[in-house]
Amino acid sequence: MKIIKKKSELKELLYSLSNQKIGFVPTMGALHAGHISLIKASKSRCDLTICSIYVNPTQFSSQKDLRNYPTDAKKDIKLLKKHHCDILFIPNDFELYENNLKSNEFDLNNFDKFMEGEYRPGHFQGVATVVTKLFKIVSPDIAFFGEKDLQQLIIIKYISKELDLKIVSVPTVREKNGIALSSRNINLTKDSFKSATIIFESLCYCRDHINKYDIVTLKNKVKKLFESSKLNLEYLEFVSIKTMHPVDVICDNLAICIAATIENIRLIDNIIINAEETN
Ligand code: PAJ
Repeated sequence: MKIIKKKSELKELLYSLSNQKIGFVPTMGALHAGHISLIKASKSRCDLTICSIYVNPTQFSSQKDLRNYPTDAKKDIKLLKKHHCDILFIPNDFELYENNLKSNEFDLNNFDKFMEGEYRPGHFQGVATVVTKLFKIVSPDIAFFGEKDLQQLIIIKYISKELDLKIVSVPTVREKNGIALSSRNINLTKDSFKSATIIFESLCYCRDHINKYDIVTLKNKVKKLFESSKLNLEYLEFVSIKTMHPVDVICDNLAICIAATIENIRLIDNIIINAEETN
């Protein structure tokens, strides 16, 4: 695996490989099996797989959250080599932002109005900024994103519409107990890790009782469950995947999205109930 830090070097290398179908997996590192499923998806569809690791400051609304974001470059490199990733791009802030570490303003079609957009102001402008910068450098044929971050996936699909690029989504990889794999899970104590199973359990409860109770009742039941747990529920929303806006009656293209914190660690998850297709 070739490790590249300079965008000029990456561009030069890619120029010399211009006939290859390029798959791109952008990440913030602290890699786990969820990220690797994206690498595998890319390897199965492309000639050359490029992964980037960059903890993007503009998508963090809190400096503390940014400082606490886990990093483990050595482990990441080992894992990517094991799974035969071809190129790892690890730029620094200057390579991507020069001296202007700020988000650009994107039209996000109001997909950022609720949930993560509401709880993390500016987050998706930061994501859109860094992803478009990376797309410009890598010029992939296909870029791979996880359903785990459903709102991010829908937003990236929207901003990529005009680009000559396909976005492929990959299902969420979970622990045996249902918890969605996330880089942030490393910061959970054993106890918190156990308690966090309530997140996926609540999603499954809603999915399994969707024909029995209305949305308000389901939300209230989940709220009650959280009140007697160690987690703080930030939101539970039933949303249309077409708009990423909450709905109050069951409809097609429905997803249930949830965010909760435990010991200041923020976890998000979702279940897609009945989508035509996210790809
Ligand atoms: P990061 O959280 O590192 O995630 C990188 C990619 O891995 C995203 O597409 C995310 O949805 C996917 N992913 C994370 N956990 C997953 C899981 N359990 N199963 C399947 N896929 C999973 O998302 C980001 O980084 C950043 O916002 C980024 C897009 C890189 C921009 O900075």
